[in-house]
This record gives sequence, C-alpha cells and structure tokens, in this order.
Amino acid sequence: MELKTVWKTCQRLLERPEGPWRLPVLATAGPDGAAARVVVLRSYRWPQATMYTDSRTPKVEAVEADPRVSLVFYDPDSRVQIRLQGKAEVITSGRDWEEALSSVSEGARADYFAERPPGATLEKPEDLELDLTGGGHFALIKIELFKLEWLKLRREGHLRAFFQGPEEGRWLVP
Ligand SMILES: Cc1cc2nc3c(=O)[nH]c(=O)nc-3n(C[C@H](O)[C@H](O)[C@H](O)COP(=O)(O)O)c2cc1C
Repeated sequence: MELKTVWKTCQRLLERPEGPWRLPVLATAGPDGAAARVVVLRSYRWPQATMYTDSRTPKVEAVEADPRVSLVFYDPDSRVQIRLQGKAEVITSGRDWEEALSSVSEGARADYFAERPPGATLEKPEDLELDLTGGGHFALIKIELFKLEWLKLRREGHLRAFFQGPEEGRWLVP
C-alpha cells in the first residue's frame, strides 16, 4: 500500500460520507475540560469540514474558548479509524450560513429553533416549544484541518499513516 493511496481513500470516504463516515465524534477542550459528542459531517473537502449546530450549545462555547478540535471516525466493517485535527470557527451569518440554513428541512428545524437552549430542563418532552422566526439559533461549525491520521487494524499487522496534507504523509508505528 502507498501513502498516496491511503490519502486518496480517506478523501473519497469523507467527501461523500456514508454510514460511520457521516457520524464522527467531535471532541473539544473547553472551559469545563474535555467533551465529546457525535455530530453529522455535513461537508468535507480537505482542508475544510463543516457541521451544523445550535449556537447555544456547550460545544460552541467550548470552540470559542479553545478552537483546537478533533473529529474521530471508526468503521467497524473495514476496521479503519480516521482522526482529524483542526481549528474550528462558529459561523452565524453570511452566504455560506444562509445557503446551509436553506438546506435544512422543516422536520430538522427543531434542532436549531427551540425556544429554550439545548440542555435546559423540560418538565416533560412535550413542553418543547419552537420559535420558527428568522434564522433561529442555527450555526455552522467550520473546521480548518491540519492533521489527518489513518489507522487500519489487520491481523497480519496494523498500518498507521499521518498526513499534514496530500503531499505530506509518513508511516507511523501503529
Ligand atoms: C447520530 C447523532 C447525530 C448528531 N448530530 C448532531 C449534529 O450534527 N449537530 C449537533 O449539534 N448535535 C448533534 N447530535 C447531538 C450531539 O451528540 C449532542 O448530544 C448535542 O449536540 C449536545 O452537545 P454539547 O452539549 O456537547 O454541545 C447528534 C447526536 C447523534 C446521536
């Protein structure tokens, strides 16, 4: 296997993500320490990855306190892990934001248009109220990526490669 092939495979998996490649864990290092949660990878084109969220969530506060984040993916079928590292930015206006918001279906609007902030206590789930005016609390998390690490588990010996860009890769001891 060539480093170039590994790089190309990673790009193909993440550019049109299916299954586990669409649902990474986003890890942040905020004021309350480390936090991790599953998110939907909305777009990926090296060196950028984008997610959607509610601007009132703790992950936004965390990113604003410390923009260094990590995204980790694992596919149990191929036994491949991909780890990305980058610098995140929260976007709540502008052309990219408007375009992304217009792609959010009616059904998914509850994720960004709750009257009260995510994590607030509800007496019961039915008490959730939406305020569908304007852009709600829709936010993009855009990550400027600078590291990609690929790990393939194999019975005959694991493989691990590290990249800082398409031409800057090397093999690592797994
Ligand atoms: C399959 C799945 C996909 C999710 N996708 C997102 C997402 O794209 N954006 C998001 O903000 N939260 C998403 N969540 C919810 C987060 O995992 C998390 O519970 C929530 O955003 C609160 O995180 P925080 O309190 O760390 O900010 C998803 C959860 C699951 C189980």
